[in-house]
Amino acid sequence: MPLVPPYIESLRPYEAGRSAEEVRRAYGLSRVSKLASNENPLGPSALAVEAMLRSMGGLNLYPNSGLDLRRVLAEEYETKIENVIAGSGSEGIISNIIRTFLGDEDEVLTTEAAFVGFQVLAKSRGVAYRTVPYRDWHYDLTTLAAAINDRTKIIYLANPNNPTGTIFSKHEFDEFYRHVPERVLIILDEAYFEYAKDTPRYPDSMHYRYDNVITLRTFSKIYGLAGVRIGYGFAHERLITNLLKVKLPFEPSTLAQAAGIAALADKEFLHKSLELNARGLKFLTDGLRELGLIVVPSEANFVMVVLPDAAQAARLTTDLLKQGIIIRPLAVWGLPNCIRISTGTDEDNQLCVEAIHLLSGSRAAR
Ligand SMILES: Cc1ncc(COP(=O)(O)O)c(C=O)c1O
Repeated sequence: MPLVPPYIESLRPYEAGRSAEEVRRAYGLSRVSKLASNENPLGPSALAVEAMLRSMGGLNLYPNSGLDLRRVLAEEYETKIENVIAGSGSEGIISNIIRTFLGDEDEVLTTEAAFVGFQVLAKSRGVAYRTVPYRDWHYDLTTLAAAINDRTKIIYLANPNNPTGTIFSKHEFDEFYRHVPERVLIILDEAYFEYAKDTPRYPDSMHYRYDNVITLRTFSKIYGLAGVRIGYGFAHERLITNLLKVKLPFEPSTLAQAAGIAALADKEFLHKSLELNARGLKFLTDGLRELGLIVVPSEANFVMVVLPDAAQAARLTTDLLKQGIIIRPLAVWGLPNCIRISTGTDEDNQLCVEAIHLLSGSRAAR
């Protein structure tokens, strides 16, 4: 056996999107719009920042494993603390799920081009990773159900999905669930829950609890706390108890926990963020479609744009970067002809559509 197992050797380290400061310096720009990582353009919740400042005096002490946040979440969602876990972002919890439940012979099943963070974590475990294609950029839950075999242990579903922004309904999920054996764990990743929750067809998974489903949510998106690393999950207490055995004893950090508790109470910030995002989604979708682009209808805080080929997607990404607009090319995810654009401030969104308009004009003239 080589020092580095082949399934690790074949992975690529995660490449974070370029920061606004880096792009500003590289191209000598005065203004840069970062629309690449589905972050909240309003910044963090001010209540969360104040709470972190208040908790600084106690940083000589170890954290309490997320107990305070779990208690608050249990109250807010009318469940028991035994059904709640908190971790270093929802990715931290995904990592723990993989370490806790996957054996060497088990398989993971999901859609093609699933959230790249999940792809990396699952593949790093060295087990078989199987996918089924999208149907019209949605999870094909029927084909996914038919693909379950004796070795399937984890099924990963993101709703809304990243990078497509699409959702599946409660009816679709219920139909799918009928085909899933109890020994299979479903990860229901709801990182973008808050953006979709008011869409009538969107299922709030807290309204139906199954013993083999774990719901994951995060403070990284609507609450503007991606840099703090705080996420949470709900599941049957048997699943949570086993996750608690495996997770790093002191995650989440004291600052992360304080930020999460305060952010949950900041309803005004939530409301403002939702309004800005709804405006942004409509503006980007309508504006880009008017330019003749294919934009997948989104229920999250980003849109996926499907270009005719990989070369055009790569060129548009680079050309926009030079104009100070950072977007996400999706080649690494397995969709080389697609790009993803996060909603920004009203000004960011406008600059983005204008830049694409100008670039498409200059390309047509070439
Ligand atoms: C579907 C999905 N799940 C999880 C995450 C990661 O969230 P966190 O920052 O809580 O680890 C993201 C972030 O982009 C995401 O898109």
